Amino acid sequence: KEVCLNRIWQKPEEAKISVFDRGFMLGDSLYEVIPFYEGRVFALEEHLSRLKYCLKEISLDFDVEMLIPYIEDAVRRSDYASNDAAVYLQVSRGAAPRSHFFPEKSEPIFLLYSFPVNLRGFENKHWKLLISEDIRWHRCDIKTTSYLANTMLNDKSYKLGLDETLLVKEGIITEGSHSSAFFVQDEIIYTHPEGHQILSGITRKIVLDLCRNLGLELREEAFPFSEIAYADEVFLTGTTTQVMAISEIQFQDNILFQSSEPGPITRKIQEAFIQRTR
Ligand code: PDD
Repeated sequence: KEVCLNRIWQKPEEAKISVFDRGFMLGDSLYEVIPFYEGRVFALEEHLSRLKYCLKEISLDFDVEMLIPYIEDAVRRSDYASNDAAVYLQVSRGAAPRSHFFPEKSEPIFLLYSFPVNLRGFENKHWKLLISEDIRWHRCDIKTTSYLANTMLNDKSYKLGLDETLLVKEGIITEGSHSSAFFVQDEIIYTHPEGHQILSGITRKIVLDLCRNLGLELREEAFPFSEIAYADEVFLTGTTTQVMAISEIQFQDNILFQSSEPGPITRKIQEAFIQRTR
């Protein structure tokens, strides 16, 4: 299966980047994961506008629109073109002698490829979570490939046979290591507001819109760690996570939250999400 590196489709083992690539050396690069439902791209504009925002935040000049035909091609060229898939897309500042400032001259490079994913059937699954301290930096709104903290955090739940790590910062839940977090208490839905502490999830945005359409009561307010034991429902959202019901939340050796069935509000949102992606 081929990858596209700077407009050229090639075998992954033949695709080469410089050892001085700033993405490789310094994590000076951004990424997106864009879903395709049965071959149809979903929320492309939203993903590209987040990429544009992140490029601006890291002062990187790059024409995002030019990526569109390559993104579409990535799935069209695959042998799962009519099934569910996702496109991984990365933009790096490119190669330059190592410096702690942004070099005046560098040719940004982009890499993209598609991979098959299972986007359907999430409503029959549930995840178990671990809670850990949010040790990430203070610009979680920038979708950088520097995911060392995220992977360190996710690895803790993986080692315990759990599915994702929920992050707590100064007594409140920010998000998951690679997903957005929602809590339901007394029929009110809570999720952390946008800002520097979370990634502005595209699925989060779509779910907020669905909640408004469904007339559900919604507050973009951080949910306190101390209230988790009193939450009625918890779910996570993300491009590959979809709308995932949470059945258990562990903290150290204690179980803080347990739910044998997805709650009624989670169900409603899952159904609306399935409709939206048809
Ligand atoms: N992760 N929060 C974080 C920290 C994330 O890494 C992600 C996505 C999300 C959900 O965002 P969206 O709904 O736009 O996918 C929230 C991607 C999918 C990944 O790392 O693979």
